Amino acid sequence: MNLRSQALKALLVQDPVGKLAAVRAIAHGLPVGADEHLDEPAGVPGRPQGLCFVSPQQVPKRSVRTVQGRAALLHSLAHIEFNAINLALDVLWRYPGLPDSFYAGWLQVAVEEALHFELLSNHLQTLGVCYGDLPVHDGLWEMAERTRFDLLARLALVPRTLEARGLDACPLVHRKLLDAGDEKAAAIIALILRDEVGHVALGNYWYRKVCQEQGLPDFDTYGQLAQRYRAPRLRGPFNRQARLEAGFTVEEIDELERLDAAFKSGLPTS
Ligand SMILES: [Fe+2]
Ligand SMILES: [Fe+2]
Repeated sequence: MNLRSQALKALLVQDPVGKLAAVRAIAHGLPVGADEHLDEPAGVPGRPQGLCFVSPQQVPKRSVRTVQGRAALLHSLAHIEFNAINLALDVLWRYPGLPDSFYAGWLQVAVEEALHFELLSNHLQTLGVCYGDLPVHDGLWEMAERTRFDLLARLALVPRTLEARGLDACPLVHRKLLDAGDEKAAAIIALILRDEVGHVALGNYWYRKVCQEQGLPDFDTYGQLAQRYRAPRLRGPFNRQARLEAGFTVEEIDELERLDAAFKSGLPTS
């Protein structure tokens, strides 16, 4: 029994309560098993049965000033966090042969994502909605699928693209929830933002390290990977401060702003 094989088991758990328990059970000093080769079983990723998947455009968006609108927003965020638990577990089992600190870092991410999901889904229940009651889209896991054979692409496009998008979104969501009078939900978002800076920083650290080991320039390689794996276009405004804290360089953030401005004005982006 080792951390990586147990992470794979936790990834397969479908039921949210069981998933949280499985993550917390592996968080205590198991040997890593970095060199074990694990085959992918059927059933990755484990998620609640009966989740209704729709295209991003079909996910209902309503004003957060109504209870239904707030529940829809919190349901989407809970879904992101449930995916985030699975994404961290997936990195743990899928990529062998890395240093222990790599696995320790992603294990901590899994534990924090479990807390984020729990806080959001508990709060959602006070609004009369359970995780799984509303339709969701699958953008996060689709990117995990596309990058499953390529650790560098996974790091580039999941933590430092999709998770980093959360850094930009959190202040806006926080403001919306405060304006709607939901201080509890706003406090949860503030906690999530604090932790997500650490997750993106971990992604940045390992992205640059793997680039270095492969002799690749990190800035240019990111652009190539984003194109090859069809990364979504990132829209501003960007949270410069959080992105800097999470290890992005000024040059990288300037490039995001340049691409965003060029897209909005209809100019070619390359
Ligand atoms: Fe999270
Ligand atoms: Fe995260």
